[in-house]
Amino acid sequence: MNIVVIGNGGRENAIIKSLSKSSKNLEIYGLGDYLNPDIIPILRGFRLLDNFNMEEAISFIKKINPRFVIVGPEKYLDLGIADRLRKERISCIGPSKFLAKIETSKLFCRNLLQENNLGDISPRFFHIDRETTISTLYQLFDSLNNNFVVKPDGLTGGKGVRIFHNQRKDAIDYIQELLKDNSFLVLEEYLEGEEFIQLSFCDGKNIVHCPVVKDFKKISKNSEVNTGSMGCIVQKNQNYKNVSQKDIKEGKDYNKRVMEILSKMESYGYRGILYGSYMSTPRGVKLIEFNARFGDPEAIMVLDLLQSDLFTIMDAITTQSLNLISVEFLNTYGLCKYLVPEGYPEKPMKNEIINLKNLSS
Ligand code: AMP
Ligand code: GLY
Repeated sequence: MNIVVIGNGGRENAIIKSLSKSSKNLEIYGLGDYLNPDIIPILRGFRLLDNFNMEEAISFIKKINPRFVIVGPEKYLDLGIADRLRKERISCIGPSKFLAKIETSKLFCRNLLQENNLGDISPRFFHIDRETTISTLYQLFDSLNNNFVVKPDGLTGGKGVRIFHNQRKDAIDYIQELLKDNSFLVLEEYLEGEEFIQLSFCDGKNIVHCPVVKDFKKISKNSEVNTGSMGCIVQKNQNYKNVSQKDIKEGKDYNKRVMEILSKMESYGYRGILYGSYMSTPRGVKLIEFNARFGDPEAIMVLDLLQSDLFTIMDAITTQSLNLISVEFLNTYGLCKYLVPEGYPEKPMKNEIINLKNLSS
């Protein structure tokens, strides 16, 4: 049986390795924009598409005739790969371009929550565009007690979000800089609390939750510079400091409700992974964002703990039968730490050989 996995980072490495442990006789194919030397030997075939071309990708996938395609990175969902595959009657683990807006547009996500009586879990937010005057911005900063977050609406790889505490002039400069390339932005309340991530397998009708993970996005301790991620941990019994069991249950409930809301919007439903990033605050659980795919490196963590066959789970997503299978995770501690190239996240050094023996810390 053939499977195609799109993408070639740490997350896809984890997906491919987990699939390769399946009791089924799987032939796994990859498609991505660079060669990951750790993935290539496991694959039956790989298509390098450095300038992604949808028709080339679809023609490669059609020749393989896979049981299903797993989409790792969000950028392919945003390009509409799931819609295009479904047109070819190829099952896809990953939502349509429209439903992926839960990740690809912060305003879509916030508005959807408001329209479905879940507005209370959003931080307070404002829509900022080129018409917003500087004096309005100062008023909005004041209304957020000068502790706020500026976010481009669309995909940024986790690197466009900036947090400001009283640095009003810096914030204005950043907003003006972003508005050169973005027609609008989101300005939102800074949430003080403990973050946690809830990943869930979704088939549009049924949902199966993974153990809660804690992601670390700051480039270093006490820095406000965000990265895609520097690593993550998992705690035995989902026992996290400053995150109650009630908060964890709420995170699972919100993921379920959002899968249901999204699934009502399109007949195919939300089939894929839903990633809810929550903040446990003194005012209850608040949503930071949803992603429409596995996290990187959260996938490495949860798939390492997964005791069940990933193929069976993914297959159940395509047949909307997650309620009929049992999914088990090892209940233990885990830690995943990324080593990042010099210059990360702004200008990471590329195409250089890094000798791990030479790293000092
Ligand atoms: P996002 O891309 O929205 O996940 O944001 C990246 C990171 O910025 C999050 O993981 C948080 O650490 C931080 N962040 C985003 N929004 C907020 C917020 N409203 N309050 C506090 N921190 C935030
Ligand atoms: N670890 C953060 C993300 O995958 O978006």
